[in-house]
Amino acid sequence: MCGIIGTIGNDPVVPYLLEGLSRLEYRGYDSAGIAVIATANAELLRVRRAGKVKDLRTSVASRDLSATIGIGHTRWATHGAPTEANAHPHFDCHESIAIIHNGIIENYLALREELLSEGHAFQSETDTEILAHLIEKYFEGDLLSAVSKAVQRAEGAFALAVLCRHTPDRIVTARRGSPLVIGQSDAATYVASDIPALLGKAESVMFLADDELAELTQHTVRIVDFEGHDVQRTPHRVQADQVSIQKSGYKHFMLKEIHEQDRSVGETIREKTHGGTLDHAILSVPLAPYDHIYLISCGTAYHASLAAEYLWEQSLNVPIQAMIASEFRMRNPHLSERSLVIAVSQSGETIDTLMALRRAKESGAQVVALVNNEQSTIDREADGSVYTRAGIEIGVAATKTFTAQIAALGLLGLHLGQDTLPAHELDEELNRLDLLPGRVTECLQQEAAIRAIAEKIHHASDVLFLARGDLYPIALEGALKLKEISYIHAEGYPAGEMKHGPIALIDEATPVVFLLSKDVAFEKVLSNMEEVKARNGKVLAVTDAPEDPAITRLADHILPVPHVGGISRPILFTIPLQLLAYHTAVWRGTDVDQPRNLAKTVTVE
Ligand code: AGP
Repeated sequence: MCGIIGTIGNDPVVPYLLEGLSRLEYRGYDSAGIAVIATANAELLRVRRAGKVKDLRTSVASRDLSATIGIGHTRWATHGAPTEANAHPHFDCHESIAIIHNGIIENYLALREELLSEGHAFQSETDTEILAHLIEKYFEGDLLSAVSKAVQRAEGAFALAVLCRHTPDRIVTARRGSPLVIGQSDAATYVASDIPALLGKAESVMFLADDELAELTQHTVRIVDFEGHDVQRTPHRVQADQVSIQKSGYKHFMLKEIHEQDRSVGETIREKTHGGTLDHAILSVPLAPYDHIYLISCGTAYHASLAAEYLWEQSLNVPIQAMIASEFRMRNPHLSERSLVIAVSQSGETIDTLMALRRAKESGAQVVALVNNEQSTIDREADGSVYTRAGIEIGVAATKTFTAQIAALGLLGLHLGQDTLPAHELDEELNRLDLLPGRVTECLQQEAAIRAIAEKIHHASDVLFLARGDLYPIALEGALKLKEISYIHAEGYPAGEMKHGPIALIDEATPVVFLLSKDVAFEKVLSNMEEVKARNGKVLAVTDAPEDPAITRLADHILPVPHVGGISRPILFTIPLQLLAYHTAVWRGTDVDQPRNLAKTVTVE
């Protein structure tokens, strides 16, 4: 949540800050701002705006901001409304210090009282401004030392960057809980919440760990811990490709990412298989014996985990449970050194998943990360990792990372089940996976028909998604996608549950999307379809049995998917639902890539 960016070099800094903020806008987009130290007189200059980075760009255009050092922020509001006064950067009393922050300072009220009693005056309702005044309080000429003292008073999560007009050749950053990456090139040093902001600029990157600070000058990076000890960190080459951060002719990133799924699923599978066999190096570490498995995750990643629970139950002889990460910590899961805990996360930074992972580690469990973002915090803190190879995902609604997660989890399941799964079943599964990218393309070719259906349903105020077995998690995901980007209320339910409550919602204005496979409780789901029709509901059948006479009789619309089992089935049924959500949102005119109130990476609890 919130994107932060900073740089120090020789070139004018403002164009880079604005471009970097646009690339980080998926992290939060209700207000934005920049601060620079003017080259002419070392004054701190600041421009902030409620609204998006494009609005900030307009305000910046009319200002003279000649500078080669600066910081910028795009906000997802927590404390205080998304107004200009609450937008970052925040200043201290003397406008000597500017700070940008991602995270929450939980003890900000107590600190605010202390600072007020010492005569500090506040201009915003944010928790962040407290830090500017704390740094002011501790500043005696050494910015690094002042920031260190200030952040050690703070409870909660932060990734921050600080400028001070009295030390105009440096930026100080610090981190606990929220992500921060430092980049370097021959000409400049950069700091950002995430790698996309550094692409095309930094040649190498390194990640700050929790409870570390860094002092950046044009050519140097010094990392220290909170005790002031120097920390050595090896930089990595920048790996992500620039194509991922461009729309390449598509109207939205989400549509581009939906269309990339033949490749993202294909890459994820190819990396873990060789010549039709499973590569058991899929997991970077050997596992100690375990007698149960928890999958922990949030949102879309939870739906992928639930899909894995259904798939793995077929072949693994241990209890498996997918749990929402924030609830995992509210409960008393039985954890020991015989627990295998798998944290599934696209970003690898989701705070609820990270906290659940830490809880599992404290209890002695073995922890495996399944992430798209290598070198993310969850990746680094886990005992071993499996990667999805989806490339950078910019659309706030997860699409290609979801199907890549199911593919990677499916293959991880084959690896975990290597002693129990009959060889012919493994071969069959691998053969199917070989053909999966082509089948994904087949599903994508339904787009025109889906767009027409979306036009018909886009005025609905409620939509139900019903399915059974391994398609139930996909019903949940279809409903989540629709509500996230179109703002239509949608619910996913096991079809068998409909008669226990949701049936009360059915009328002629309620579209019901059925996911229906010949191989998954076909007759029973057909009966549920009859029940919906009997109440005048509108039925959309997404099915691998499109010719079945009962379906052609009952459904108002039919979307065919290829008839395939195993790991491929939940992936293939996902594609039409993503396209349905996308086109419904487009018909409604919502902001598809940056839906209201959401952020791509949720780093607050
Ligand atoms: C997906 O469309 C959502 N925006 C959201 O549910 C997301 O999947 C969730 O926040 C988990 O994120 P992660 O995969 O980065 O951990």
